[in-house]
Amino acid sequence: MLNHLLFNKRCTTGVCAVVVAVLATVAPVAWSQSQVSYTMLEVEAIAAQGPWPMAMPADVGNELSGKLWAEKLGETLFHDPSLSSNQAISCATCHQIENGFSDQLPVAIGLEKGVRNTQGLLDVGLQRWFGWDGGADSLWSASIRPMLNKHEMGLDISSLGNALRDNKVFMSAVETHASDIIFNGQPVRATADLNDEQLVVVAGKSMAAFMRTLQSEATEFDLFRVALLENNVEAQAAYSNSAKRGLKIFIGEANCRMCHFGASFSNAEFHDTGRPFFTGVGQVDPGRYTGIQRVKNDPFNLLGQYAVGSSDVDKLKTSEVKLGQINWGQWRTPSLRNLAHTAPYMHDGSLQTLRDVVDAYVNIDTDRLHAQGESILKPLNLNEVQRNDLVEFLLSLSVK
Ligand code: HEC
Ligand code: HEC
Repeated sequence: MLNHLLFNKRCTTGVCAVVVAVLATVAPVAWSQSQVSYTMLEVEAIAAQGPWPMAMPADVGNELSGKLWAEKLGETLFHDPSLSSNQAISCATCHQIENGFSDQLPVAIGLEKGVRNTQGLLDVGLQRWFGWDGGADSLWSASIRPMLNKHEMGLDISSLGNALRDNKVFMSAVETHASDIIFNGQPVRATADLNDEQLVVVAGKSMAAFMRTLQSEATEFDLFRVALLENNVEAQAAYSNSAKRGLKIFIGEANCRMCHFGASFSNAEFHDTGRPFFTGVGQVDPGRYTGIQRVKNDPFNLLGQYAVGSSDVDKLKTSEVKLGQINWGQWRTPSLRNLAHTAPYMHDGSLQTLRDVVDAYVNIDTDRLHAQGESILKPLNLNEVQRNDLVEFLLSLSVK
């Protein structure tokens, strides 16, 4: 039974069964040298963490999603500092391509120092709620927010409308493709009639069209997963034993997959993992608790006039979401892909390395937890080798 996945090509004789049995006995002693095998249940759990890449869904409520011209325009705007109040900050100031579209800082610095870590944007189109607190219900509304945020780019609707009207590349693209743009159920006829808020919506939707194209490639883990499912022993050997053991811990005793589930390694839900609430003396960041209020009050949410073609089902998530005390201190489960490039970690950037994150889970203070996190998370009994294995596994979820 044991090791059948690794040995079944060679182990057709009784002699081989003995070898396997011996390996199984020494395995606990020489853990770090031993071969790694998985039970059928474990293989099923591993299968559920893929396949990758996934088909990218369209951005809900965004009629420009998937339009090539909008993707190109969005990329240009993403790098355009004229959309900030000091003309010096663009999206790319914080979302840097060489750092997985993040910035290596604990918390973002735009016009002012913020309180949250800059999220990486690879695979962002797979999310259901946007921002650490899920304060936006679509990628396009999440794109409008930073331009208006006083810590980040700091414009108001009318100055942003003026900046866009002065932007020749933007206006000429809008002019050329006006019939793709829908307001009040109608394609745009005269771009000169577009008001500030409408221009801002077109800019946000174009940026979202661009970000939806930011997809990460298959990683060492994905190749191993395929090799395992195809029973390709040779290809399985390319994945390090340490990562194989880390994967076993991840889906097994540490139960990480309970929240970091599926090909994107996120259940898209909100949980409390025990990070501190305080962002400064007497200041707290309550996470999902304010995220729900933000999304409900957002004029650019899926219930508003600017969401085009979103179905009643799409709108349900926003109309039905309810605020409760349980949401205090909850954060969106992040994807675990691309972490090699996006340190430091957590919503507040308070953990410098992946080893720090693993240690924080190992030593979790259950008295600090409430909500769903409480029943799922508990301190873990993992030794030094096992902790490093978990880190090796996490690193195998990034394209090197
Ligand atoms: C000052 C740094 C900074 C700038 C400038 C900035 N961002 Fe961000 N971005 C952040 C931070 C911090 C977060 C997390 C925000 C939160 O949780 O509320 C974030 C989150 C996001 C998200 C949500 C990602 C997710 O996984 O849910 C998107 C999308 C995004 N930014 C797009 C943009 C776009 C588009 C621009 C330019 C218009 C931009 N950002 C400008 C720092 C920045
Ligand atoms: C109860 C759900 C839950 C479980 C179980 C869980 N996580 Fe998380 N994880 C989260 C949430 C929520 C966050 C974001 C917390 C924050 O920002 O404060 C997170 C953040 C992370 C991060 C940081 C990612 C980033 O982009 O900053 C890593 C790495 C991570 N988890 C790994 C793990 C590992 C390894 C395990 C198993 C030992 C695990 N998680 C178990 C919900 C969970």
